[in-house]
This record gives sequence, structure tokens and C-alpha cells, in this order.
Amino acid sequence: MTGKRQNGMGGLWSGFAISIGILAAMLGFGGGAWAQTTPQYGKDMHIGVTSCAGSTCHGATSPWENSTVLQNEYITWSQKDPHGTKAYKVLLNDESKRIAKNLGLANAHEADLCLDCHADNAPKNKRGRFFQISDGVGCEACHGGAERWLGIHVSGVASHQDNIKAGLYATEDPVARAELCLSCHFGDDKKFVTHQIMGAGHPRMSFELDTFTAIQPAHYVVDKDYLKRKKVANGIRTWAIGQAIALKRRVDAAASPDRGWDGLFPELVLFDCQACHHPLTAPTWQPRPSTGLSPGVVRFDDSNLLMLAVIASHVDGELGVTLKQQTKALHGSVLKGADAYKAAANALKQTADTLVAKFASRNFGKDDIAALMNGVLAEAAAAEFSDYAGAEQATMALSAISSAARSMGMGDLAKAIDGPLNKAYDSLEKYDGWDYAGFRAAISEIKPIN
Ligand code: HEC
Ligand code: HEC
Ligand code: HEC
Ligand code: HEC
Repeated sequence: MTGKRQNGMGGLWSGFAISIGILAAMLGFGGGAWAQTTPQYGKDMHIGVTSCAGSTCHGATSPWENSTVLQNEYITWSQKDPHGTKAYKVLLNDESKRIAKNLGLANAHEADLCLDCHADNAPKNKRGRFFQISDGVGCEACHGGAERWLGIHVSGVASHQDNIKAGLYATEDPVARAELCLSCHFGDDKKFVTHQIMGAGHPRMSFELDTFTAIQPAHYVVDKDYLKRKKVANGIRTWAIGQAIALKRRVDAAASPDRGWDGLFPELVLFDCQACHHPLTAPTWQPRPSTGLSPGVVRFDDSNLLMLAVIASHVDGELGVTLKQQTKALHGSVLKGADAYKAAANALKQTADTLVAKFASRNFGKDDIAALMNGVLAEAAAAEFSDYAGAEQATMALSAISSAARSMGMGDLAKAIDGPLNKAYDSLEKYDGWDYAGFRAAISEIKPIN
């Protein structure tokens, strides 16, 4: 989370809770935990952003009054959304030139390695006449190649389910959304930012599904009409599912024969960056009870695991215990060797699947909010967030909890969180030499609920 990110978040997340309907939070989401191929690799032709941008379709300059959708989605995406404004363009800047040069690429804007995440890099034979790679992360990179659903969705008679059968990607389903966003914001078995790419200069990445959903400038409104057509997961379920799928992705990579290893070393991008990258002038090591590790050992990046320990312990005590044991085993495996490491990652893969299914079929309500917030505060008090990545996830978790609280009519709780939360974001502003003391002080201002 760079300074830039912090400013973006500070401004944007605070307005979010108000704009998302109260109704949304109260309706349970069905939780269709079914796997849909992510759009880039789907079988349908990608028609191109211009096909969506007609003024009577999604290219209106202002929202239409009598329409079920806003119809100015294109303007929002092309003027405010980093997927439209920057994702492809940054591949032409000096930073990308340097990364490309360091990796021995001719250039970044023509390399699949970069385009896979910075554009809608569908295979060449799946690109329609109006498709332009320079559009960046276009509509169909998230909503799916429109070949089959374009016709029926323009006719206006197709239901959302009909559209999905015709290849529209289920972006409203938190499981499908998490799979989609994380495919670029962390990577998957087909595209991945390795430590080699980081070493070449790629910025560090972080993600939390509910917070990032909130700070992507919304080109849709969750109103009564929307709720008639679509099921909406509340922020807590979205957060929980996002964490479980992020864990799945991370341990998937750790256990993978081609992605988990880089010569003598395990893939370093899966470990806490600051376990290696920090100045030696001011020693920062301190024990973290949940890891069981002594000083001088490289820590697996367990920021998602820390959040999941809180959620799983609340939802299913036994599962919480299993998760904590498996987490410790993964940390400890680093001292035992490659086989122990892979076995520990594989064990967590199964637990991650169980967690996704649990969270997708559970309604998270008002009582959960207090319990989860207390859980995060307890971990903070136990000094579990002394790594930047953990503190960052805890901060985004409290931001998800605060917006969910507000939308469930618990405005006082949300207010009590928001002040300290801003200070927590401030403490994270600088990655190098971040302010752990400031973070702890901010979090301790939030009082647990009895
Ligand atoms: C697995 C997906 C993925 C791959 C592969 C990838 N990137 Fe990125 N890149 C991202 C994401 C996501 C961000 C935004 C990170 C954030 O803000 O959290 C990003 C950010 C960047 C930025 C900073 C953008 C800004 O606004 O400051 C640059 C520059 C960049 N990438 C260049 C590259 C280049 C060059 C390549 C190819 C060598 C590449 N990326 C490969 C996903 C990827
Ligand atoms: C980075 C991913 C992403 C991109 C790019 C994107 N969308 Fe979306 N879109 C979403 C998400 C997430 C939602 C909210 C969940 C849902 O309703 O499916 C959404 C919702 C919508 C909706 C539904 C509104 C409703 O009331 O049902 C429309 C229409 C839409 N997007 C059109 C577009 C168009 C047109 C573009 C390109 C100009 C675009 N989107 C680009 C992710 C994306
Ligand atoms: C095809 C790859 C891809 C997909 C899918 C994708 N993103 Fe992104 N996203 C990017 C890239 C690349 C950037 C960085 C753009 C830049 O700064 O140049 C980015 C940037 C962002 C940012 C701005 C982050 C910042 O640092 O300010 C947010 C928020 C975001 N994405 C949310 C989402 C959400 C939510 C989803 C899923 C609905 C999603 N993204 C799906 C590639 C993707
Ligand atoms: C196990 C230790 C270790 C971990 C964990 C680790 N790195 Fe590295 N990193 C290294 C080493 C060693 C180098 C090579 C240093 C050199 O070339 O001087 C390096 C190089 C880099 C460089 C290039 C630095 C330069 O001066 O050009 C960047 C950027 C980087 N790493 C980012 C990351 C990020 C981001 C993470 C976490 C996602 C991470 N590293 C995790 C050990 C680590």
C-alpha cells in the first residue's frame, strides 16, 4: 500500500458505504460456489470495448433514468477506473521499460507476460473486428467474451441467468469475483508475478476483495431493481470469501511443481517481503506467537491466514483450530525442507476449499460483525500484526467491517472504527520503515464490544 494507494483509499472508501444500498447487506447471497472459467480463457469471442460503448448502450454521458442499469458504464471505466485509464498505458512508461529491459523483453506492451494482466489478453483467434488490446482491462476482461450474450442482452428479454448461460461472467457472485480479481491481483496457474519480475522492478501487490470492490469506481448501483435481478453478498461474506480464495491461490502456488520453486529457493514472492527486505540499522524482529518461529527465519506471507484464523475460529471452532495448526506447520516446514513445505501447503489447500464452501453458504449478520471485529482486535493485541502485510490486511478488514456495520444500521460502531482506521492507514503509508507503533496505537483506540 503506497502513499498513493493510501490517499486513494482514504478518500474513496469512506464514501462507499453510503452509496451501496442498505437492502444489499440484508439479503443473503445464494453462494453458488461453482467454477466458471475466467474470461481471458473462456471459449467466447471478445468483441471489443467499442461494441459496448454506443450511446444507447453503455456509453451515455450520464446515467439514464428509466433503465435498469446506469448506461454510462463506459464513461466511468474510461475516465475514472484504473483498468480503463492506466492498466495498458503504464506498459509504455519508463517504469515498464526498465522492467522489460531487466527481464530481457523487447518491450512490455507486446509481451504476453505483461498483457495477461494489464489488458484483455484473449487469444488472437478470439478477438473480434473492433477488439483493441490497447483498451486495457476492458469490459470483457471481467464480464466475459460477449460473442453469445451480446445479442440476447441487447434484446432486453434475456434474464441474468440466460446471459450467464451465454457466457456472461458472474461478477456478482463473490466466489467468481474473487477468482477473477485475484487472477490478476495475485495471479493463478497461467499468469503470475514471480520474485524475478518483482526483482526487475514490478511494484509489490496487495489485495482485499471487499476493499478493492469499494475503491474501484463503481459503474453500477445496487438498488431495488438490481436486487430483483441479482443476489448480493454483504461485505463480510465478500471479505471472508476473498481471504479464503487468496489463501487457496497462495498455497496452490507453493505446492505447484513449476511455480513453487526457483532453483535452490522456494518462490520468494510467497514469503513476507520484509522478512528479507528491511534495513539492518533498526532491528525489528519480535516473536509472533502463531508462527512458532525463532529469529532469523524467513516467514511465509501469512497475512490471509491471520484473517482466516479470526473468521474460521468464529464460524467453526474446530476448523479454526485445524487452520491454526496447519499454519504453524507451514511456517515450521521452512526449517525442514521441500517435502514438508509442499505437504503443509497441500494440507492448507484442502482447508481453504472447506472455508470457501462454509463462507459461501453462511449468512453473516449483525452478531458476526461484533465477533469478527473483536477477533481482529485480539490478534492486534497479541502482536500478530507486526509484519506490514498482516497490518495492511487487518486495516482493510476493519474497513470492510466498518462499511458492513454501516449498511446493517450499526452506524455508531462504524463511526467508532473510522477515526482510528484513518490513523491505521496513515501508519501504513510508507512501506519502508512503516510505523508499527502508530498502527498499534490506532487499533488500540477501537474498543472491543462485549
Ligand atoms: C499476475 C498479473 C500481473 C502481471 C503478470 C504483471 N502485472 Fe503489472 N500490475 C498488476 C497489478 C494487479 C498491478 C497493480 C498493483 C496494485 O496497485 O496493487 C500492477 C502494477 C504495475 C505497474 C505500476 C502501475 C502504476 O499505476 O503505477 C507497472 C509499471 C506494471 N505493473 C508493469 C508490469 C510489467 C512491465 C509487466 C510484465 C513484465 C507486468 N506488470 C506484469 C498485475 C500484473
Ligand atoms: C475490473 C472488472 C470490471 C470491468 C473492467 C468492467 N466491469 Fe462491469 N462490473 C464489474 C463488477 C464487479 C460489477 C458488479 C457486480 C455485478 O453486478 O455483476 C459490474 C457490473 C456491471 C453492470 C451491471 C449493472 C447492473 O445493474 O446489473 C454492467 C451493465 C456493467 N458492469 C458494464 C460494464 C461495461 C460496459 C464495462 C466496460 C466499459 C465494464 N462493465 C467493465 C466488474 C467490471
Ligand atoms: C485482467 C486483469 C485484471 C482483473 C481481472 C482485475 N484487475 Fe484490478 N487492476 C489490474 C491492473 C493491471 C491494475 C493496475 C492499473 C494501474 O495502476 O496501472 C489494477 C488496478 C486495480 C485497482 C486500483 C488499485 C490501486 O492501487 O489504486 C483496483 C481498486 C482494482 N484493480 C480492483 C479490481 C477488482 C475489484 C477486480 C475484480 C472485480 C479487478 N480489479 C480485476 C488488473 C486487473
Ligand atoms: C528470502 C528473502 C527474500 C524475500 C522473502 C523477498 N525477496 Fe526480494 N530479493 C531478495 C534477494 C536476495 C534479492 C536480490 C538482491 C540483489 O540483487 O541485490 C531481491 C531483490 C528484490 C528486488 C530488486 C531490488 C533492487 O535493488 O533492484 C525487489 C524489487 C524485490 N526483491 C522485491 C520483493 C518483494 C515485493 C517481495 C515480497 C513479495 C520480496 N522481494 C521477497 C530476497 C528476498
